[in-house]
Amino acid sequence: MTKELSTPALEAARQTYEAFRARGLNLNMQRGQPSDADFDLSNGLLTVLGEEDVKMDGLDLRNYPGGVAGLPSARALFAHYLDVKAENVLVWNNSSLELQGLVLTFALLHGVRGSVAPWITQKPKMIVTVPGYDRHFLLLQTLGFELLTVDMQPDGPDVDAIERLAGADPSVKGVLFVPTYSNPGGETISLEKARRLAGLEAAAPDFTIFADDAYRAHHLWDEDRAEPVNFVALSRDAGSPDRAFVFASTSKVTFAGAGLGFVASSEDNIRWLAQYLNAQSIGPNKLEQARHVKFLTEYPGGLEGLMRQHAAIIAPKFEAVAETLRAELGEDGAYATWTQPKGGYFISLNTSEPVADRVVQLAQAAGVSLTPAGATYPAGQDPHNRNIRLAPTRPPVEEVRTAMQVVAACIRLATEEARATREQAGR
Ligand SMILES: Cc1ncc(COP(=O)(O)O)c(C=O)c1O
Repeated sequence: MTKELSTPALEAARQTYEAFRARGLNLNMQRGQPSDADFDLSNGLLTVLGEEDVKMDGLDLRNYPGGVAGLPSARALFAHYLDVKAENVLVWNNSSLELQGLVLTFALLHGVRGSVAPWITQKPKMIVTVPGYDRHFLLLQTLGFELLTVDMQPDGPDVDAIERLAGADPSVKGVLFVPTYSNPGGETISLEKARRLAGLEAAAPDFTIFADDAYRAHHLWDEDRAEPVNFVALSRDAGSPDRAFVFASTSKVTFAGAGLGFVASSEDNIRWLAQYLNAQSIGPNKLEQARHVKFLTEYPGGLEGLMRQHAAIIAPKFEAVAETLRAELGEDGAYATWTQPKGGYFISLNTSEPVADRVVQLAQAAGVSLTPAGATYPAGQDPHNRNIRLAPTRPPVEEVRTAMQVVAACIRLATEEARATREQAGR
């Protein structure tokens, strides 16, 4: 249908797009993964343990004993990372998402501390932020939660909306979101909003903050950083010490999916979680924990030093996205607006017309894969059809630049198609 449409702007956009399509590109801006250069920084992990390292913290790493809370040295290391005490941390295996699933499952089956009944008996609802992380939606929906969405704003979740939802309905059991450099927009919650969440008057006595702090240390520029909040301390100060669980992992620090996931909360909550984990596991992989402790403490500048090395690789890619979009689409929002995160792994772009699905389709046809349109909303349905998640970390910087030129051409074409269609309908 759009073939018949013609305006000068549409013709120009079509020509630019076709020129890119003729190049037969094969680029991927979909994967929220580190690049090989990032992984190479941690190759020392592969050899850091020798036969002399089979013991740590007085434990034989080859044997069962040690408990479910994790190696004391690993708890101390990640306590520092999360700005809490070692007693407030449980270090598990390779995935923070798995830990989120475990905590949510135990809450469904047993309730959390302060629950009057297991959540599964209460038709539980969970608040999530949009645009957001598709795996949060998948996890919660797979476990049977009804999802309620609130907007992610530049200074964190729409807390007014959360207060309204949680204040009115005891089956609203909590909120799951990314507090620092969110996926996909890179927003960081302000201290003021974090305080409001920690002290929120909820209808449910067991309303819980699930903070997936996956990008807490993932600053792009030393001189311009967001300040991550501490939900464990804020909840304690607000008189609800058990309100928050904070999750993180080394997936974007060392090796993705081949490192350590960990969680921080009140000491009582850590005991609550440990009792259930203890029923299904004698303990996490202590060798992996020891490997990370040794590697990260010996790394020049420690974990922070490693994150600076990542930033040196990743920041130019974020700059390439911003520069290319600005050059190709201007800054007036006529075609799109996009976030300019100070850290994390993603950029969130909104088209001015409801054409996100068309942009992704055009990009695919021109050899650039993007995260599917809608993926940043529950059930893959973006009600506005405007949001696209850009993931610049995996490809080399020159590929990021080319891919973004293609994406900009697709946005121009899809926008001009929509405008021409509207113009035609109005004639
Ligand atoms: C917000 C967020 N949480 C969790 C994960 C996955 O973490 P893990 O590998 O520790 O399960 C990702 C990966 O992209 C993410 O973006």
